[in-house]
Amino acid sequence: MEKLNTPPPVRRISPDKKSKPAKPSSTTAASKRNGKVSVKTGRSRPKVESIERMRTVDLGIAYGGKSAVNGVSLQIKKGEVLALIGPSGCGKTTYLRSLNLLVEQTPTATRTGKIMLDGEDVDKLELTELRRKVGMVFQQPNPFPMSIFDNIAYGIRERGSRKPTRRVLKPFVEEALDRANLLEEVKDNLSHPALRLSGGQQQRLCIARSLAVEPEVLLLDEPCSALDPRSTAAIEDLVLKLRSEIAIVIVTHNMQQAQRVADRVAFMYLGDLVEEGTVTQVFDKPQQKRTRDYVSGDFG
Ligand SMILES: Nc1ncnc2c1ncn2[C@@H]1O[C@H](COP(=O)(O)OP(=O)(O)O)[C@@H](O)[C@H]1O
Ligand SMILES: [Mg+2]
Repeated sequence: MEKLNTPPPVRRISPDKKSKPAKPSSTTAASKRNGKVSVKTGRSRPKVESIERMRTVDLGIAYGGKSAVNGVSLQIKKGEVLALIGPSGCGKTTYLRSLNLLVEQTPTATRTGKIMLDGEDVDKLELTELRRKVGMVFQQPNPFPMSIFDNIAYGIRERGSRKPTRRVLKPFVEEALDRANLLEEVKDNLSHPALRLSGGQQQRLCIARSLAVEPEVLLLDEPCSALDPRSTAAIEDLVLKLRSEIAIVIVTHNMQQAQRVADRVAFMYLGDLVEEGTVTQVFDKPQQKRTRDYVSGDFG
């Protein structure tokens, strides 16, 4: 239950800062032709400028002395979606939860190695600031039991003592919903209870809630595993739309999804980072036998 009890970080807005007006959502990577959607995979997608946001150096996590992540070194960059793949229990969630220090909430967890955000050791950052910059979305959508509007507004607070009014907050709320490809579906009823939305809408709401505090890094832990194919496509589309602005790590069991959304792929097995590379390297020319077996569906 710690997910629900962890309040999202607060974004401070000054009254004179104008939110960008919400633009209509555009389909970026998936272009519709004759009613069919063709997707540019990580093999053919245009390159955008990539900038390192996070890096782990020899990161190890153990629970009660039992290792779950063994010395993983990875770079996480804006402009390159990183897919984390591997069978259940191999440490993917643990790795993600370590990046914004959520794993430290588990009393038995211990950590070795380094986690850097923008070149700074995360241990030196204030925890709320780290969690604002590094947002996380879980497998099961977890909206708060309140309206759509209030879910998004929750993390947004005006600087100073006055509480921002609904009117001040509205453009920020709409901008976040738009970036999460949800605005069109909900804009006429922002007072609707979030828990009455469909699963796919709830998950996009959770993404919008993260986006509202303007993170640099977004961690998505199997965000589509509880969703139908249409909702899954909506989430994949928004990952591709956000890739040029935010560093995204997505854990997925779905090999097709990894190829559709990722630029780089990291394969983990029993806590080890077995292989990491471009989509083409990992799926078409894996160097390690364990990677070859996994991506060809021989195990997992
Ligand atoms: N809170 C915890 N306490 C103890 N062991 C845990 C905890 N969370 C995960 N583990 C163990 O750590 C290993 C990695 O789990 P996890 O990171 O959830 O893997 P994945 O996300 O790849 O399925 C597993 O052996 C799992 O049983
Ligand atoms: Mg997991």
